[in-house]
Amino acid sequence: EFHQRVFSGVQPTGNLHLGNYLGAIVKFVALQNTHDCIYCVVDLHAITVPQDPAELKASIRKVTAAYLAAGIDATKHIVFNQSQVAEHAELTWILNCVARLGWLNRMTQFKEKAGKDRENVSVGLYDYPVLMAADIHAYRATHVPVGEDQKQHLELARDIAQKFNLDFAASIAEHGHGEAFFPLPEPLIQGPATRVMSLRDGTKKMSKSDPSDYSRINLDDDADTIAQKIRKAKTDPEPLPSEIAGLAGRPELDNLVGIFAAVNEETKAQVLQTFGGANFSTFKAALVDLLVARLAPIGAEMSRLSREESYIDSVLADGSSRARAIAAETVKAVKDIVGF
Ligand code: ADP
Ligand code: NA
Repeated sequence: EFHQRVFSGVQPTGNLHLGNYLGAIVKFVALQNTHDCIYCVVDLHAITVPQDPAELKASIRKVTAAYLAAGIDATKHIVFNQSQVAEHAELTWILNCVARLGWLNRMTQFKEKAGKDRENVSVGLYDYPVLMAADIHAYRATHVPVGEDQKQHLELARDIAQKFNLDFAASIAEHGHGEAFFPLPEPLIQGPATRVMSLRDGTKKMSKSDPSDYSRINLDDDADTIAQKIRKAKTDPEPLPSEIAGLAGRPELDNLVGIFAAVNEETKAQVLQTFGGANFSTFKAALVDLLVARLAPIGAEMSRLSREESYIDSVLADGSSRARAIAAETVKAVKDIVGF
């Protein structure tokens, strides 16, 4: 039996948006009541694509501020940035030698991110999923809350754990770790907003990298900006249906209803019970009120924390030293198991 431990992370790249919030951060907050949680700012992942050094530094602090503003308690749990714990990179090397090339070749996110210029992307972008596996396994985490887009990477992390446990079974037993050294981490992907879509195109996911700022709600958008973006969000001319089946073929509406449901902690069916037959101006006005009520306090706290750089840095330094203590113990055991 493994100790129940949650690990997850967010990249310090660009603005945090409603997709990151509903798909990941809301769950991070909820899990604090039942699990030991480790929340990482995955800055090593960020440099798999080019970053401006000054902006990267600012983004690391901004994601940290978003974690704290959303309600993560860095004193009871651990908040840190990946680059400060060398064991992530060290374990990645060992797991690189466990993972199979064919497994990585199947990763769809790499194919999307590399696009047509496959010969000219970093080796790091290709190896991103193994680094993610090392992040999780460095803490022998049992549960990983993420959005739908990370499901395949989590399956890879499970495959790597399983192969390590099998390849080194005898040595794992000899070193007193029983039948398995790494737990197979369970993905926690559930609820109505596991994949929040762009407000401009219901078939694309809401993303930091979308060039249109109107495609996403940022966590620190003010009330007027939220209202404007929701008013401009793409919809169709029909009123809202009263049942889920009526969402079929209406991806933009489905997305807005999912957002409403996630923020109001109800199901899409319940949202449609309330708004079935209503027109979009009524529904959008209610959605704006709901989003503003939820996000305004977070945005205000993020802006306050943006003036507290040394406080943020001290949170990360403290979190990194606590994370390092756990990861170092894991890596030491892994080295013994491997034969170093
Ligand atoms: P992005 O994909 O915007 O670059 P990250 O890769 O840092 O963001 O993802 C951070 C977390 O947010 C991950 O758990 C990811 O699954 C989740 N996430 C990102 N975009 C969305 C989205 N549109 N809907 C739901 N969850 C999302
Ligand atoms: Na992502």
